[in-house]
Amino acid sequence: MSQANWDERYGATDRVWSGAPNPWLVEVAESLVPGSALDVGCGEGADAIWLAGHGWATTAVDFSPVALSRARSAAGDVSVRWEQRDLATWVPDRRFDLVSVQFFHAEPAVREAVHRAAWQATAGVLLVVGHDLAHPGPPPEEVRYGVSDIVAALPGAEIVRAETRERPRDAAPPAVDAVVVARRRG
Ligand SMILES: C[S@@+](CC[C@H](N)C(=O)[O-])C[C@H]1O[C@@H](n2cnc3c(N)ncnc32)[C@H](O)[C@@H]1O
Repeated sequence: MSQANWDERYGATDRVWSGAPNPWLVEVAESLVPGSALDVGCGEGADAIWLAGHGWATTAVDFSPVALSRARSAAGDVSVRWEQRDLATWVPDRRFDLVSVQFFHAEPAVREAVHRAAWQATAGVLLVVGHDLAHPGPPPEEVRYGVSDIVAALPGAEIVRAETRERPRDAAPPAVDAVVVARRRG
């Protein structure tokens, strides 16, 4: 989807996502000592706000000004560095202790480039989560991906977890998530 499409989607309703942080991010971040963090494709900002509220010096990037404006409002006094950027052309110029990419779904070449760039931006731990090929529901199958697709975009990375995990949802069958954690040592 283009930036205009995402702006339209965000603008059509008061809130698209739950406002709660993604559970696999909370699980991973709680096992680490807080440092710097980057949220790639942050949407309405729930993950970035949670990270910043738990001691992480957080930068959050999305190309949708509508989503970023909503995220800024939701953050209130919580300090997050919000950046508007098209990740399709992202060349990282610094590294973060924790990089999180949650549900970035785009045409495969763009998604692979973003996952690769996210690894280049990682000084410590990279968490990538996506709707798995077996996920029941949107996004369409052609932009879903599995753990092997994520791992293939991270050549040279030390993969510490690569799992397909079910996530319970209210009034819907469980979501099926592809979850990969990679680590850069030293
Ligand atoms: C499915 S949402 C996920 C939002 C958030 N990570 C979450 O889990 O709630 C995907 C987000 O990626 C953003 N996005 C998609 N393509 C992008 C691109 N090329 N550059 C920057 N952001 C993009 C969209 O605006 C949207 O906010």
